Amino acid sequence: MISEALNVSFTRVGPGSDAGEVLRRYWQPAALVDELAGNRPVVPVRLLGEELVLFRDAEGKLGLIGRHCPHRGADMCFGRLEDNGLRCPFHGWHFNRNGQCVEQPAEPEGSRSHEMIRTKSYPVIEKSGIIFAYMGPGTPPAFPDFDCFRAPDTHVFAFKGLWECNWLQAMEVGIDPAHASFLHRFLQDEDPAASYGKQFRDTAADTEIPMTQLLRDYPRPEIRVEETEYGLRLLALRHMGDGKTHVRVTNQIFPEAICIPMSREMTITQWHVPVDDETCYWYSIFTSFGAPVDKALMREQRLREHTLPDYAPVKNKRNSYGYNPEEQGSITYTGMGLDINVHDQWAVESMGRIQDRTEEHLGKSDIGIIRYRKMLRQAIEAVKQGDTTALPMMQDALNHIQGPVSTDAIAKDGAWERAWLESDADRRTRCSWDASLSLDAGGAA
Ligand code: FES
Ligand SMILES: [Fe+2]
Repeated sequence: MISEALNVSFTRVGPGSDAGEVLRRYWQPAALVDELAGNRPVVPVRLLGEELVLFRDAEGKLGLIGRHCPHRGADMCFGRLEDNGLRCPFHGWHFNRNGQCVEQPAEPEGSRSHEMIRTKSYPVIEKSGIIFAYMGPGTPPAFPDFDCFRAPDTHVFAFKGLWECNWLQAMEVGIDPAHASFLHRFLQDEDPAASYGKQFRDTAADTEIPMTQLLRDYPRPEIRVEETEYGLRLLALRHMGDGKTHVRVTNQIFPEAICIPMSREMTITQWHVPVDDETCYWYSIFTSFGAPVDKALMREQRLREHTLPDYAPVKNKRNSYGYNPEEQGSITYTGMGLDINVHDQWAVESMGRIQDRTEEHLGKSDIGIIRYRKMLRQAIEAVKQGDTTALPMMQDALNHIQGPVSTDAIAKDGAWERAWLESDADRRTRCSWDASLSLDAGGAA
């Protein structure tokens, strides 16, 4: 457990807050590119507790500016998208994509007072189906050469979903390798061939064993955590008792992302992005090392579970996540259906909007969470001291930070340390795009 003061420091995200200032040193997912696909590319964005509006102008360029007009506060989401910018419908003040007011048509002829008016604006960039924003001071950091950013558009797919809880408890479920053996337990195994686009439904490594069976049969993973240049690498070892070990390699990418294997073909890179202190979005990039991603199928699967425009899950606390006690008895551990996202959503939302960590009792299996909080604490301190060079991924060039390797492998006991690297290298060799790693890739410290 931690003190109330530390819990506040870790969880609050507004301007000037401890964790908020750390998060502001990194690019943050602000919207899906899909959200700007309609006739009028203007969407509200609430990010780190700030109210913004994102738009694409007539030149196809993006702007992310304050949601409330600096004149008298009207909502710019209803603005007129014209003249390469956004015009407030109240009195016609016009803003370009950098937030500069360029016209005040109700002011006297020849007035130049618009030159003094500038609304908040943040740099934005499109990457792999996500529009990222930088809300911090100074020059934004570089992007690492992660697989999800290197893969061609045909091999990535992005989606998001709303969770009604603080970002940290959402992220912490992703660095807790033990929970998969319980929360995501399936009491029966489905045909892995029918598993496209779903997690934990493939067979394990190069075996006939369904992942669902492996997770169920070996619920006490030995968890090792290594610090890396990008965050943490977690190794979950399931000793199978027949001279074999299953190793699952997942990653924490500082400050709020994870990178995990989804199937033998795909990985998931997932950010847990604060909307405000009590709400967050998960943004995922699914990256394929095999065939091009079937985006239509991936989108359709996920749109069935979410309502637009908020990407709010159909199953939620107001309908008890579809909880069915009969199902809990015979099919799933949770009784909440086969979509593992719903399981995670229930786990993190049911803690309350901001988990009271003064009441928690961490165990040995929570080693990833313990190590992560130490990193976050150090980063908060470094930002307070004004020394951001100590934060992960703050160098000028990050193209040596690749991967991160996220994979499942099965090896003879004692040989697992090489096995996961070999199984990953094999996948990269066969990959149709350049997924090769430089020697120091993975960034082990
Ligand atoms: S409130 Fe926007 S122009 Fe007046
Ligand atoms: Fe999970």
